[in-house]
Amino acid sequence: MKLIAGNWKMNLSLSQSEQLAKKISEYDNRNNIIVVFPPFTHLAGISETLRNTNILYGAQDCHYENKGAFTGDISPVMVRELGCRYVIVGHSERRNYHFESDEIINKKAVAALSSNLIPIICVGEKLEEREAKKHKEIVEKQINIVTRNLDREYVIAYEPVWAIGTGKTATSSEISEMHEFIRTLDKNKILYGGSVNEKNYQEILNIQNVDGLLIGGASLEIEKFSRIMNF
Ligand code: PGA
Repeated sequence: MKLIAGNWKMNLSLSQSEQLAKKISEYDNRNNIIVVFPPFTHLAGISETLRNTNILYGAQDCHYENKGAFTGDISPVMVRELGCRYVIVGHSERRNYHFESDEIINKKAVAALSSNLIPIICVGEKLEEREAKKHKEIVEKQINIVTRNLDREYVIAYEPVWAIGTGKTATSSEISEMHEFIRTLDKNKILYGGSVNEKNYQEILNIQNVDGLLIGGASLEIEKFSRIMNF
């Protein structure tokens, strides 16, 4: 059973997202665990749409405190209250645009677990780091910090930054090498993410140590996502 996660990022109106969630739920999804990640403002609506279905949903981020003076932030308790089961932390867009460090991401993952959320913790090297052949070193360092003091199930998502939203997927041997390496460091599920689409998903899912996919662009289109989740 693979974990197929759709990260909708800052896309879709509320009604568009409810329609997409409804269509996803109409497929027979017994083979895999399917989780969608709508924007925060759509979570309450999506929780109604997906009630009594086998599609799970989660938040794209959360704060590391449960409450307090953090204008604009959303806490793990709040998203758990809406029925979220998963939360993405440390996505490269959060690292890049919101300057999140591995230490902050670790605090978010710890907080998520204490609210009974399963964190999907993103790691991955930048293009210049891969070109300098430092990709393993970078990912190892990230994993060592982001997984500190996590005492329950979590998920790692390996997303090479240069492959996200670029149409430039990592090759099977690059994915295989990195997932095998991460497996020596961590026994939890490892997802691959970065320009996964309806054409390349099968090959990627067949790679050893790939326990699922984190999909951005292709998760917004039902024709593409339904094929991937029902492989
Ligand atoms: P992408 O995004 O599939 O559009 O490359 C993946 C992600 O950001 O998780």
